[in-house]
Amino acid sequence: MKINLSSQKGLFITFEGGEGVGKTTQINLLKNFFEEQNLEVITTREPGGTEEGENIRKFLVSGKANSWDSYSEALIFNAIRREHINKVIKPAIENGKIVLCDRFIDSTIVYQGVAGNVNQSNLLQLHKEYCYNLYPAVTFFLNLNPLIGLERANQRLNQNDNRFESLGINYHKMVYDGFVNLQKKYPKRIINVEAGLNKSLISKKINSFIYKLAKINE
Ligand code: TYD
Repeated sequence: MKINLSSQKGLFITFEGGEGVGKTTQINLLKNFFEEQNLEVITTREPGGTEEGENIRKFLVSGKANSWDSYSEALIFNAIRREHINKVIKPAIENGKIVLCDRFIDSTIVYQGVAGNVNQSNLLQLHKEYCYNLYPAVTFFLNLNPLIGLERANQRLNQNDNRFESLGINYHKMVYDGFVNLQKKYPKRIINVEAGLNKSLISKKINSFIYKLAKINE
């Protein structure tokens, strides 16, 4: 079965979830899937995505847990996102490419809003004013028990980038509940993907959703 997205202008897809849920693996598998269909794909991530954003990322994901408070984080993530949209996401979509992004606005709502207590309407307002109110066409929420995810994340080799991981299980349970509730709030855009399965099964589920989406948009 071939999918045809060529009649449209690009496609913006994001992946969300807690730590260690397997976003990177699934992004790469989906990239391969699209490339097999001869579609042009770029992968990117937040915080980061531009040279400037990647430089700032280092300071956000490493160091002491309390080095930034949630309000400061909200402003920094927005600044990084605006640059990312301007320099990478918008141009790619306008050129008809598919953009697969590891984290976006939903992470800010959950990490800074739900877990960090920053007013969520203010975060949505910031997104509106500073980030063009840009939302992905689809968001895959990789739904995994935070105890398992955190354990996986802590086994990673690069233990310098573990500022968020170090915030403890209660924090990560709040993050998990935040994503679950957000998915319930926006069930059309945010697709719940059971992430405790093996990676090829997860990938099949994601691909079958893409087929459905392509049909809807035909
Ligand atoms: P990332 O490296 O993607 O974490 P992981 O590899 O575990 O998926 O993201 C770094 C951290 O940044 C992650 O713990 C979540 C956090 N974050 C926010 O708190 N707010 C945001 O808006 C974004 C994009 C990320």
